Amino acid sequence: MSTTRTALVTGAAAGLGRKIAERLAAEGHRVVLVDRSEAVHQAAQAITESGAEATALVADLMTLATDPADLIAQLDQLASDTDILVNNAGMHPRTADNESYAFEDIEVGQWETVLRLNLTVPFLLAKWAAAGMKQRQWGRIINIASRTGQTFSAASSADYAASKAGLMGMTRQLAGELGPHHITVNAVAPGLVQSPMNLGGDLLERWTATVPARRFGTPEEVGAAVAFLASDDAGYMTGTSLNINGGAYM
Ligand SMILES: NC(=O)c1ccc[n+]([C@@H]2O[C@H](COP(=O)([O-])OP(=O)(O)OC[C@H]3O[C@@H](n4cnc5c(N)ncnc54)[C@H](O)[C@@H]3O)[C@@H](O)[C@H]2O)c1
Repeated sequence: MSTTRTALVTGAAAGLGRKIAERLAAEGHRVVLVDRSEAVHQAAQAITESGAEATALVADLMTLATDPADLIAQLDQLASDTDILVNNAGMHPRTADNESYAFEDIEVGQWETVLRLNLTVPFLLAKWAAAGMKQRQWGRIINIASRTGQTFSAASSADYAASKAGLMGMTRQLAGELGPHHITVNAVAPGLVQSPMNLGGDLLERWTATVPARRFGTPEEVGAAVAFLASDDAGYMTGTSLNINGGAYM
């Protein structure tokens, strides 16, 4: 087991983020769960009931890019000792029929919203968290990217692909800059994982047939990879990306 540390997980009310927070708590870490959904309170409470330490913060992370003072003050108060930052909150707009957008149909407003949540928010949170990590000379930044950040996916859209490819580029750059401070920066690149993002229609079933493992992944499997990257054992891994995709891209 790793040393007990404070882990901040964004988008932790549901889906991958919730399971990542649960797994980090099970590893003995104190977790701070951030989400714009009030359901984050239940997620934190479930962790507390399991005997671990968890705090919930309801906040719209988009405000970090526009009007950050309030949220930064709350983060400073609740999680100034963040040693492990998991940038998980993200969005993947789909049409009313739960299909991906052709790039010609993506309006600039949607493009900018996706880039802001999936790429600008992780950048701003990394800036915030790295200051304390540098002081303590230890840190882990883990960015939840996607298979779509590395290769074409017919199930995805250009705005999402651009944001996740950008996140993977940023991961490498930060890894280089923060390495001398004993801070590692890595990405996790899931393929198809069952979560609220993918529910609706037959999206999961349709794409599963194209995956060598012939199943979709689980949020728990992503949580396990994040827990490893957050551990002391992963101290010599930085600037990389763990593929969790059942062989859909290799
Ligand atoms: N599910 C997959 O198949 C899959 C595959 C590859 C990558 N990912 C990535 O994993 C991450 C989590 O995906 P998921 O499937 O669990 O998504 P999800 O939509 O099920 O959950 C995302 C969470 O983020 C929160 N959130 C959204 N906007 C927010 C904001 N502005 N401020 C605060 N919280 C906000 C939501 O309330 C929600 O709880 C995302 O970055 C996603 O791109 C998911």
